[in-house]
Amino acid sequence: MRIYECADERAMSRRAAGIIASQVILKPECVLGLATGSTPVGAYQNLVEWYKNGDLSFAGVKTVNLDEYLGLAPTHDQSYRYFMQQNLFDHIDVKPENTHVLNGLAEDPAAECAAYDEMIASLGGIDLQLLGMGHNGHIAFNEPGDDFGLGTHVVTLSERTIDANQRFFASRDDVPRHALSMGIRSIMGASKILIVVSGEAKAESLARAVAGPVTNAVPASVLQLHPDVTLVADSAALSVLKREGGLK
Ligand code: GLP
Repeated sequence: MRIYECADERAMSRRAAGIIASQVILKPECVLGLATGSTPVGAYQNLVEWYKNGDLSFAGVKTVNLDEYLGLAPTHDQSYRYFMQQNLFDHIDVKPENTHVLNGLAEDPAAECAAYDEMIASLGGIDLQLLGMGHNGHIAFNEPGDDFGLGTHVVTLSERTIDANQRFFASRDDVPRHALSMGIRSIMGASKILIVVSGEAKAESLARAVAGPVTNAVPASVLQLHPDVTLVADSAALSVLKREGGLK
């Protein structure tokens, strides 16, 4: 795992955007795996800026997103489709038909998940997968205890994730209890992985993920088994790893 320590969230975002931009420049027809959450927002802002400056084009890029809440329409302001439109897709030249987000209103969620894995395979797989990490070490919506062997599937969100995501909804009761999510198997199938983590609140989980045993109790720890992972994190997120001597 390649680890880049950045002074703060701003520097982390710029570095992560630089890695995504490199992928797009080197292979303009690439498949980008994209993530939601607050951590990647700054990276998306940089990409939009570079597109507007004429330094970057997404005209040939295809995107696949990690996850979506079950039961939320794409137009719901907390759906991940809406998030992607607001934070990235509406501001760049990616073709709408080339952006893929799981359908939270699918009548048959299991069939939607199976079709999503087939769609990713038909695109030739993911060149670069961007990930954030939850406070409990989850990636996408793969919660602690979930089976590493799963492809895209329906998940039940943990109480901790519901707590963490409550801030975006009017009340805790409004947070969906289920989601559709690419599984660890789908994520590990990407050629390259870029994970962004910021803030001291995630430092303990990040240390476990990077230097602890590979265990589904800390889903991000599976990344130790992937041959091409880049972690871009701010110093606060790396504080525990550094204290424990895990950062060379
Ligand atoms: C959600 C998403 C994850 C994301 C996580 C952390 O649970 N499904 O993909 O990594 O939130 O979000 P944040 O970056 O806001 O801490």
